[in-house]
Amino acid sequence: MTQIDEQPLKVALLGCGVVGTQVARLIIEQGADLTARIGRPLELVGIAVRSLDRPRPVKLQSLLTTDADALVSRGDIDIVIELIGGETDAGRLIRLAIDHGASVVTANKALLASQGESIFPAAERAGVDLYYEAAVAGAIPIIRPLRESLVGDSIQVVMGIVNGTTNYILDKMTTEGMDYQTALVQAQDLGYAEADPTADVEGHDAAAKAVLLASIAFHTWVSDSAVYCEGISRVMPGDIRAARDLDCVVKLLAVANTLDDGRISVRVHPTMVPNSHPLASVGGAYNAIFVEAAAAGRLMFVGPGAGGAPTASAVVGDLVTVARNRARGVVGPRQSVYADREVAPIGALRTRYFLRFRVTDEPGVLAAVASIFANHHISVQTVQQMPVDEAGSVARDVAELRMMTHVAGEDDLLDCVAALKAAPQVRSDVRFIRVEGI
Ligand code: HSE
Repeated sequence: MTQIDEQPLKVALLGCGVVGTQVARLIIEQGADLTARIGRPLELVGIAVRSLDRPRPVKLQSLLTTDADALVSRGDIDIVIELIGGETDAGRLIRLAIDHGASVVTANKALLASQGESIFPAAERAGVDLYYEAAVAGAIPIIRPLRESLVGDSIQVVMGIVNGTTNYILDKMTTEGMDYQTALVQAQDLGYAEADPTADVEGHDAAAKAVLLASIAFHTWVSDSAVYCEGISRVMPGDIRAARDLDCVVKLLAVANTLDDGRISVRVHPTMVPNSHPLASVGGAYNAIFVEAAAAGRLMFVGPGAGGAPTASAVVGDLVTVARNRARGVVGPRQSVYADREVAPIGALRTRYFLRFRVTDEPGVLAAVASIFANHHISVQTVQQMPVDEAGSVARDVAELRMMTHVAGEDDLLDCVAALKAAPQVRSDVRFIRVEGI
């Protein structure tokens, strides 16, 4: 039986939106169990909100305040949970909490990706915890498995679907043949996509998560400016159809992997993945992260990547861990950044590519196209010729060429694409998608 110290640990919650309300509910409703698990009770002493006017559960009313700075600066707060999002106020409040000796739990991936290089050391200097499991892939435990369970291994690849909105859109384009715009509107109607969907659809949300995953996996602080980022807004139904014909799907992946020269590559882009890969079957708004490590082999983590209750589960998991540390007067394990690995520019990437473009359907065209690939040191693995236009209807004088390459260099590929676009035989844009998992 755990000995209970009756002195409560004081908790301040910043933000009471979809996730914050669920966190407050869990702290209150599961109070007895959390006390038993921690060895000390938690006392939620205040909830900072932007406005007192919004309807909120009655039992939270007496805790509400609009003065977040005063709440964090009280001097007796043990743990601050930051769920207001954004970077300016959240960054100031987290630094204030650390300066006042509080440990911090946050779900703020954008803030940690852009300012983590200074916030993590500030927490270390102050001797407090800074936990952020909910910042990447909602309910899925991935930060702690990478930082603790796999810390003795050598990670080679972390590759994941870390944005539910874009996975939902691509899934609808794949399974129901929707175009991008129709699928986006449906995602907005269902509350997955924001009114301004830019952060999700242009890959910025996934890129922030890629920063955090790559930094832990490769023991290096990865700057957000070093991450290549390309979203899904230019993915066309023709790309999805071509992938399907090759028994593949298109997913927006955050990929971090080691390169042969010791550098790492960290990037977000639409990716063609074979249906045999574990990530291919992750549909709807779900998230999944695939990890490949030298000793452990291949691991897969899957689950809800957003939503009030799932994200609150990760936040409260961190809260309990940080509270246990606090109750024992210690801080938890930190992520190490000793390796200082260089992040290679996207031009240094070597992977397989899928290309799709239409050509004049007459003798000698295939030979001319093949010589353009050869001139750019790109070896073609497969070629498909389909008599279709961009809408997928039968075409007469043009054919769509679909070419899968062997592993090639990104710079060579871009030069090859430019040469194809300039070739008189090529009658359309030249589209390419990076390929993983083949
Ligand atoms: N907007 C994100 C998503 C969740 O759609 O997965 C928060 O990062």
